[in-house]
Amino acid sequence: MAHHLLLHYKEESFYYIKARESLLEQVTTYGAEILCSAGFQSERNFMQHGITNCYTHSICVAYVALRWAQLLNAKVDVPSLVRGCLLHDYFLYDWHDKEKAANHHTINHPKVALANAERDFKLNDIERDIIRKHMFPLCFPFPKYKESWIITLADKTCAASEIWHLWSLENVIAALDRRIQAML
Ligand SMILES: [Fe+2]
Ligand SMILES: [Fe+2]
Repeated sequence: MAHHLLLHYKEESFYYIKARESLLEQVTTYGAEILCSAGFQSERNFMQHGITNCYTHSICVAYVALRWAQLLNAKVDVPSLVRGCLLHDYFLYDWHDKEKAANHHTINHPKVALANAERDFKLNDIERDIIRKHMFPLCFPFPKYKESWIITLADKTCAASEIWHLWSLENVIAALDRRIQAML
């Protein structure tokens, strides 16, 4: 099973990860409130990995988390997974700017993201857990829900694409961005 999954994933990602219509639809449907908010849109101004900003990184993580859930055949709370992923790096500063970044950004940004998300949106327990624990195993505590475990995979998949260009998510990002622009 694991072998099959790995092969399947590698095969798909050899050139690029496909933009699947049904998953794009889920991101924009369940993420609409967040995607259209001023706070989330401001993430376009904050750099994350390489030349990727937090906005692009976050929509990418939401999509890839849904794809991981599909590959793992995991029955997940789709709206909570999408919303939690979109808000997982909602810390709202450029972490390269030492004046504005939280102390020990790597460890503390999930707490800052959660505080900002609580202020701007009404969250449920799964969404809170996704945001707070997405850095596992680099940071503790352990994820509580399967949706939080899935983001640990998705976040690292996207970071590897952004930093090392191991595979391309450009078509996913372009397809999502087009849809989001049309919603604004
Ligand atoms: Fe993060
Ligand atoms: Fe992230």
